Amino acid sequence: MKVVTLCSPGGLDRLAIGEQEAPGEPGPGEVRVRVHASSLNFHDYGVVSGRKPVEDGRIPLSDGAGVVEAVGDGVEEFAVGDAVVSTFFPYWLDGPARVGDFATTPGDGVDGYAREWVIRPATWFTQAPTGYSHAEAATLTTAGLTAWRALVVDGKLKAGDTVLTLGTGGVSIFALQFAKAMGARVIATSSSDGKIEQLKRLGADHTLNYRAEPEWGTRVKALTDGRGVDQVIEVGGPGTLPQSIEAVRIGGHISLIGVLTGRGGEIPTAKLMAKQARLQGLIVGSRAHQQEMVRGIEACGIRPVIDSAFPLDEIADAFRHEEAGRHFGKICLAF
Ligand SMILES: NC(=O)c1ccc[n+]([C@@H]2O[C@H](COP(=O)([O-])OP(=O)(O)OC[C@H]3O[C@@H](n4cnc5c(N)ncnc54)[C@H](OP(=O)(O)O)[C@@H]3O)[C@@H](O)[C@H]2O)c1
Repeated sequence: MKVVTLCSPGGLDRLAIGEQEAPGEPGPGEVRVRVHASSLNFHDYGVVSGRKPVEDGRIPLSDGAGVVEAVGDGVEEFAVGDAVVSTFFPYWLDGPARVGDFATTPGDGVDGYAREWVIRPATWFTQAPTGYSHAEAATLTTAGLTAWRALVVDGKLKAGDTVLTLGTGGVSIFALQFAKAMGARVIATSSSDGKIEQLKRLGADHTLNYRAEPEWGTRVKALTDGRGVDQVIEVGGPGTLPQSIEAVRIGGHISLIGVLTGRGGEIPTAKLMAKQARLQGLIVGSRAHQQEMVRGIEACGIRPVIDSAFPLDEIADAFRHEEAGRHFGKICLAF
């Protein structure tokens, strides 16, 4: 089978396409999955670019979707032919968060899905939404579930709420789609006027260019008649958090998700206190959250926004495309 490995110390030119023997039969509790698709995340880019060191020879990519080809003894949840999607934290099945690192995450602490077949415990997967392509399903493991957990699990989104999304990466576009599907209003930002037109087509109620308007927090407040937004999908980190705190309503919720502008910095703590807002850090979600999200998607019918899809051999080009930052939504691998 075809497999991609990453040689130390990382870098897009250190991704090697090779051949390995296809796996045999699954053991008790396991499934054999023919992987057909993956999708790229900022985290995966950190791994393959060498910024996030991993073991030499690691198979990258956290997201995987495909078809169950064989089931081991005792597996009742899946049958041969089921379309499935991988989970980000294979051992966090349910209940409150219990992991705060990537030691068990495929494509980081353990081998990921840049390969054609895997044998894994059945609990490392959930069913994919009915009718989704494998590329669509693969976008859910990281980006989709992060947006779902932020808005629905932690943020307790309800119809009539106003959500602020930052930029047009995978997480933010999913957040826009979930929020609109659930009856919320969305204020969405981008650095590109072209992408702003795409945001409007996806249903954003208000848009603004965060480069042209560096003090966008005040503008967002004005767009809500001075009240502020109920929720912020904070993917920027230190460079955007002060504006997000400006934009949130008193008692609102900020999901601290991303590090696009860096890993540490100054936070206007007095303003956050005065806003009485909840600042909730999170990393993706549990298997149970993923199952809830799949049910939600099947009920509301949203389809992921796929910017482009590359074959497995062209994984380095796919990451170059991500690096260039011209994408809107998800970049996938389909194979
Ligand atoms: N905590 C978690 O569980 C979790 C899960 C997934 C991702 N993340 C993090 O969330 C962030 C986004 O991930 P992703 O996979 O969605 O990334 P992505 O698809 O690569 O998105 C990148 C987009 O972010 C926007 N952006 C860049 N700098 C920005 C800024 N200063 N202000 C507002 N938007 C900005 C840009 O949008 P425009 O081109 O429109 O300006 C860019 O296209 C990353 O830091 C990632 O590590 C965290």
